[in-house]
Parts: sequence; structure tokens; C-alpha cells
Amino acid sequence: MLFSQIKRKKPEKLRGLQKMKAYLDNGATTQVAKEVIKTMQKVMTNHFGNPSSLHTFGEEAKQELEKAREIIAKKLNADPSEIIFTSGGTESDNIAIRGTAYKNKDKGNHIITTSIEHPAVLRTCEALEKEGFKITYLKVDKDGLIRLKELEDTITQQTILVTIIHGNNEIGTIQDIESIGKVCKSKNVLFHTDAVQSFTKVPIDVKKINIDLMSISAHKIHGPKGVGALFIKKGTRLRQIITGGEQENKNRPGTENTPGAAGFAKAVELCKEQGIEDMIRLRDMLIDGIEKNIPDVILNGSREKRLPNNVNIAFRYIEGESLLYQLDSKGIAVSTGSACSSQSLSPSYVLLAIGLKPEVAHGSIRFTLSRYTTKEEIEYTIKNVKEVVENLRKISPLAKRRD
Ligand SMILES: Cc1ncc(COP(=O)(O)O)c(C=O)c1O
Repeated sequence: MLFSQIKRKKPEKLRGLQKMKAYLDNGATTQVAKEVIKTMQKVMTNHFGNPSSLHTFGEEAKQELEKAREIIAKKLNADPSEIIFTSGGTESDNIAIRGTAYKNKDKGNHIITTSIEHPAVLRTCEALEKEGFKITYLKVDKDGLIRLKELEDTITQQTILVTIIHGNNEIGTIQDIESIGKVCKSKNVLFHTDAVQSFTKVPIDVKKINIDLMSISAHKIHGPKGVGALFIKKGTRLRQIITGGEQENKNRPGTENTPGAAGFAKAVELCKEQGIEDMIRLRDMLIDGIEKNIPDVILNGSREKRLPNNVNIAFRYIEGESLLYQLDSKGIAVSTGSACSSQSLSPSYVLLAIGLKPEVAHGSIRFTLSRYTTKEEIEYTIKNVKEVVENLRKISPLAKRRD
């Protein structure tokens, strides 16, 4: 069945919020923090000038922008001059990958990535392939981890960039970017990581780890949508891929989104260690609750090297879409695959890459928490997932064949 054939319910005013019992789709996006809204409102109202203008309005806006840059840089232990603002993770990935590829074309044409990247990286690499670049897509093991030796062996004299996701958006697996960075440094190859899902959830110190470029995004951490940043290590040269003015060190022309940047920085300031510990506790409670109460389930991704907010489970013998809609009717928001690919009814390429059979991949659901997630939400979710899975299995031809 085509997606266009699926009947969608008419949106009503605040229907989602009214029926919400558990919002567990924070990997897709998060609720904007009220402190972030307040900050953005203040900047939009009081500091609306163009940061490039020379008068006081411009100067004040510039101050807000630079304050935001400093806060984000500090979180990564970077220098503020190494941060540029973008319109989100997708644009950061594009600037990093295309910018490096075009700038280093005379040195080589080989890029290494993985088969489980976000589409923002995969589609960019595929587009470059059509332009003559050679791309190697590293395979991953059953946990979703790359093999370092394979990476090492794949790098050639022609390799100009390694781009590997930090925390996977679907299965939550965290790659060992410290070791990957070491390999890249020893081979003198640039290293970009997409840290959109891991930023603020897994500590990253760019002075300790060899990273040349890193993409991050505000809306995954209770910040606004349409705002992101790219860390560009001092001395790393990129070709400008959007042409225009000289903003953001000429790497991202266009009038800066000052309220967005300020909102992003506020969201970063609000991320505290305790919030991460609580998320891990609730994440493990959800995994335990499902594994202990429901038979024939598989935790997708690594159990140990896992994002603090990600639970991805295959429920055998049922369709993930049916489970998603039944949970939605009970006020529980989850996703099948990542939000970006959930409009497609083909099984997730990430789940296939870790070795799941298509029918098992089809029965997988991603639950993603945030620091706003409560114990009550998790308890409610476990109880309802158990009920719905039992009911769906009663009518599933796949479950009947198993008996
Ligand atoms: C790993 C990863 N990279 C990139 C993106 C794209 O980020 P944005 O939505 O800010 O463009 C996402 C969003 O889902 C993501 O999860």
C-alpha cells in the first residue's frame, strides 16, 4: 500500500496535546522548553537588528549571537570561532561533507561513511557519487558498530574524508568516535561526525577527541526547529556551498537566525548531568519492563553503547505500523524507524544493516525519551504496549504460523 493511500485523520486544535499520555518520540523532535521560548521572544522583541549592521541595533543582535556561540562552544570545549550556525543538522551535514569534498578534490576523491547514517549524510554521499566521488559504505555488526580495522584498511591515498554518525538515530548505538578519530588522525584524513542525536547526552570534548567537523541540531534538545550548528576545527578549510554574503566566516552566508541561536544556546544551558542519569534510569526501566512482560521481543542496537534516550524493540509476529497507531489511540507517541523514513513502508535500512530479517524489522518500534519523560509515562507505556501486542498477536497470521 502506498503512503498516499493511508487515510490520515483530520487535525483538530491541539488534539495531540489533549490526548497525550506519553510522548516517546523525542528522537524525531522534542517539546520546546518554556525557558527557550522566553529567551527567543526576548531576542525577537528587543534585539531584532541584523547582526551585520553597524548601528546599535545590529551591535546588540551581534552580542546575542556571539553569546549563543560561546555557550555552544563551551559545551564542546571548542573555541567560539570554531562554531557556525546553520538551519539544522541536515544543512550542517551538507556543509561539512560537500564543503570538504569540493575543497579537497585535488587531493583525492574517496569518502568513507557507514550504511547506517542518517539520510542527511547518505543522500549527500550518493549525490557526490554521481559527481564522480567514490564512496565506501562500511558495514556494521549486529549491534550497529563499525569495525575499526575495516575502517583502517579502507583508507587509501585518495581518501579525503571519513563521516561516521556518533549516536544512531534509529537504534541508538554509540560509535567509538575517540578511536575513529585516532585512526583518521594517524592516516591524515578529515573526520566528520553527525552528533545530532548525541549532543548534550553523551559528553564530547573536541580538544580530547580528534574531530574536524561535527553537526548538531537544536530541536532534539528542547530547542527550536530550523537551527543547528557545525563545529569546524581551526584550520579546516571548506568550499562555500551556499553563495552569498560573508556571514559565519563565509561558510554559511545569509542573515543569522539570532533568536534561533539564542534559543539553541538556552536549550544547551538547560541540559544537566542529572537529566541524563534520569533518562538512562527510565530507558532501562522501559527495556526491562518490555523484556520481562512481553515474549518474543528483541532489543535492537547495542545494550551497553546506547544513547541515554533510545529504546528500539522488535516485536515479533506483528506490524510496527499497527502497533504505532494503536498506541497513538491511547495517547502514546512512538515511531517506526526514524521520523524521516517513517513515511516509507519499506523496512528500515538500519535494521536490515544490523542483520534483521525484513519481517522482524517491520515489527520494530522506536521509543525515544527526553528529560521531560516521567516514570508514570514509562509505566503507562509498558502496560499498554503489553496489552496491544497481545491483542495484535491474537489476530496475526504470522503469530498463528509460529504456533
Ligand atoms: C542523526 C541525525 N542527523 C541529522 C538529522 C537532521 O537534523 P535536522 O532535522 O535538524 O535537519 C537528524 C534528524 O532527525 C538526525 O537524527
